[in-house]
Amino acid sequence: MNNDLLPDKQLVARSFGRAAEYYDDVAVLQRQTGDELLDRLSLVTIQPECVLDLGVGTGRNLVSLAHRYPKAQLLAMDIAPAMLQQAKQRYRQSEGLKRWLPNNKKPQYIAGDAENLPLADNSVDLIFANLALQWCDPRSSFAEIQRVLKPDGLVMFTSLGPDTLHELRQAWASVDDYPHVNMFYDMHDIGESMMESGLVEPVLDTDRYILTYDSVMALMTDLKVLGASNVNTHRRRGLTGKRAFEKMTNAYEHYCTDGVFPATYEVVYGHAWGGKTKVQQAGNDGSIRIPVSQIQRR
Ligand SMILES: C[S@@+](CC[C@H](N)C(=O)[O-])C[C@H]1O[C@@H](n2cnc3c(N)ncnc32)[C@H](O)[C@@H]1O
Repeated sequence: MNNDLLPDKQLVARSFGRAAEYYDDVAVLQRQTGDELLDRLSLVTIQPECVLDLGVGTGRNLVSLAHRYPKAQLLAMDIAPAMLQQAKQRYRQSEGLKRWLPNNKKPQYIAGDAENLPLADNSVDLIFANLALQWCDPRSSFAEIQRVLKPDGLVMFTSLGPDTLHELRQAWASVDDYPHVNMFYDMHDIGESMMESGLVEPVLDTDRYILTYDSVMALMTDLKVLGASNVNTHRRRGLTGKRAFEKMTNAYEHYCTDGVFPATYEVVYGHAWGGKTKVQQAGNDGSIRIPVSQIQRR
């Protein structure tokens, strides 16, 4: 596995911390994949006592998980404390007066790292992670997920694949050799890490989403507001010059159709069980489901 893809974790935390306030204004893809992940979760019959929303962000999915599993203890975890604050605020607003009812379970908000979960072994029934694990080393994060999941616990996640923002990556490649765009592990690496961790019956598939923008600047601004700007360990330090930026935007013109600039996202969907064989839950959503054992390297 290529260690060069590992992001600068402190920068990830800082970047998302700064993004917390306006994140919801631009989190279009995150909403779409979060809803899809929740749909897929509804195909599985489980009654979790403890649910972890890992990389909870501003907490949109946390509210849905609370409605779906009202008896469960929810754990909301994020590496960026400012995101936890937003999640807490949103949850309180969603609850309204219900929060004064006796026996009303409140989520626990935990600042923590997916690669080093501050949770006990075999303690969680469901881990839900929407677009958070792509910022982690898959070997450490899946080892931790397997450790804290109960044997019949379930992890459901989305992550990003290497084709994500390929237009932007190509456009920058015409300027210099620095990695200007985040790089992500592919489905094979993710699958291997899941298998190595001891998770069982991992199932992975990918889907493509194309977001469109009026300009390259609008795309760059969205990435910044989302907290998803370049966090590569080998990124170029210092400011990028105006001329380099112009060269990049000119190269991006190549992808522009009818005045619209596309940005591709390759989304990896995955789930697996903690450590005990379960009958796979079949989806009816038309997606291709590939058991990891059948994934071949190109
Ligand atoms: C793209 S946002 C997704 C947030 C949320 N799950 C959603 O669906 O809107 C990614 C989140 O993962 C968090 N994150 C990134 N790396 C993390 C890590 N190593 N451990 C825990 N959280 C992490 C970020 O701070 C951010 O809040």
